[in-house]
Amino acid sequence: MEEPGTPLVALTGISKAYGGALACDGVDFTVRRGEVHALLGENGAGKSTLVRILSGDITGYRGTIEVDGEPVVFGGPADAQRRGIALIPQELDLVPGLSVAANIFLGREPHTKLGAVARQRMHRETRELLARTGIALDPKRAVGELRTGEQQLVAIAKALALDARVLVMDEPTSALTGAEVERMVKVIDELRDAGAGIVYISHRLEEIGRLADRATVLRNGRVAAEFTARDLTVERVTEAMIGRPVQAFFRVKHGETGDELLRLDDFALQPRRHRPGRREPAGITLTVRAGEIVGLGGLLGSGRTELLETLFGAGTPGRWHGHVSLGGSEIRPRSPRHAVRLGLALVPEDRRIAGLALPHSVRASTALSVVDRLATAGFLTRRRENDTVAKVLGDLKVKGALTDPVGTLSGGNQQKVVLGRALLTEPRLLLLDEPTRGVDVGAKAEIYQLLAAAAARGIGVLLASSEPAELVGLCDRVVVLHDGRGAAELDTHDAGEAELLAAAMGATD
Ligand SMILES: Nc1ncnc2c1ncn2[C@@H]1O[C@H](COP(=O)(O)OP(=O)(O)OP(=O)(O)O)[C@@H](O)[C@H]1O
Ligand SMILES: [Mg+2]
Repeated sequence: MEEPGTPLVALTGISKAYGGALACDGVDFTVRRGEVHALLGENGAGKSTLVRILSGDITGYRGTIEVDGEPVVFGGPADAQRRGIALIPQELDLVPGLSVAANIFLGREPHTKLGAVARQRMHRETRELLARTGIALDPKRAVGELRTGEQQLVAIAKALALDARVLVMDEPTSALTGAEVERMVKVIDELRDAGAGIVYISHRLEEIGRLADRATVLRNGRVAAEFTARDLTVERVTEAMIGRPVQAFFRVKHGETGDELLRLDDFALQPRRHRPGRREPAGITLTVRAGEIVGLGGLLGSGRTELLETLFGAGTPGRWHGHVSLGGSEIRPRSPRHAVRLGLALVPEDRRIAGLALPHSVRASTALSVVDRLATAGFLTRRRENDTVAKVLGDLKVKGALTDPVGTLSGGNQQKVVLGRALLTEPRLLLLDEPTRGVDVGAKAEIYQLLAAAAARGIGVLLASSEPAELVGLCDRVVVLHDGRGAAELDTHDAGEAELLAAAMGATD
């Protein structure tokens, strides 16, 4: 049903150029009271640019913004917030050294009558806000200690604290797992019922079908299609996003694998800090053969990231027990450098800690990890660096020039650079933590093909993912971690998403 009356916000003819290229090109976009308006498009289509203009984060643009029918010009995010518009940005802007509560109330700290910061109140309100997002965290904990998914929930709580009439969420669920996403859907429904307008950006198209009242698809900075809930299907949206029908998605499992490459025996992790009522996974036995893609499933906080980081020598020393062997010999990776020499590569969950040097060019950032290898293989010429990097980034269809600073790429394209870098080292074992986070459907298919090709060359792949479809569709086997009880193993040739979820929830057998 078309809602009559003035939209809460209306953007008209919005254009934004970077260099010669238009990130947004004459976009019209409105948000009405009580609706969820999905904003969709491939990586680099202009989604983040548009919502950063709407929320006052980007100030130089062409076109007009109206709030309640009245033209406005925002000098910054604070102006937009005063008009009731809040943004949960794609690249979270939390301060790692500050506590959860301090981040949520940054710049708006409540004060006591005597003028001091009202900490008790801040902590109480923080707990209430976090409870709405379904997570219990100590408000005094430093944000930098939290996992990416937890940080994402803090950013959501921070935006909820603003009580916005227009809440813009740029990939709020990209680091969340099934249960947390369900919780988010509830929060969004409540906000919608209370009359807020919500702009929702996500590459998880299944979510859109359940959440959105309307959807606008951007392609190359322009509006390519608009849908109402009635005619919104994954196929149609995908077609509008990429401008052609979709191809088959996952690889055909080949089942031919080589010798055992990685073996964990009676492996146990110790908690980063004591969490009441929780036990870390212990007694894990896990193998990856050469040419095999093994999935790691489990709920948020089940220890997947810690496991991968530990294998890569990036965990805290002394925090694990058991035996790890690679190609038959026992290893104890001491540092990421050491792990790389052993033939491992890691694509971490949070690309900001992946050592992506944002001001450096795409070429330099991608080549960073291979400089050693190329140099020892002979000599490193600019030409050779160019060829190697261009090949990998071409395979991944990274949108952007090799000379662009990485920081100017869209989120999904930065993710592809991190992945390209790991592939370039030609590891024996590739460790991947949510490798397709924030990546569009088309690019996902390309990444799956690259991983399948890597496996066919004999590389072993251990992949943690929160997307059941990805685990079941791509992996030969899935190992599911859960609280203190080691791991269950599923053969994806005969188990599907339902079995996977059951195992993650800790169902026995
Ligand atoms: N500061 C900048 N300098 C130069 N180019 C930029 C800058 N910010 C964005 N761009 C370019 O503008 C285009 C649109 O980027 P944007 O971040 O809006 O894409 P997006 O739709 O949000 O993609 P994703 O799904 O990957 O997050 C991209 O080609 C990007 O490289
Ligand atoms: Mg974006």
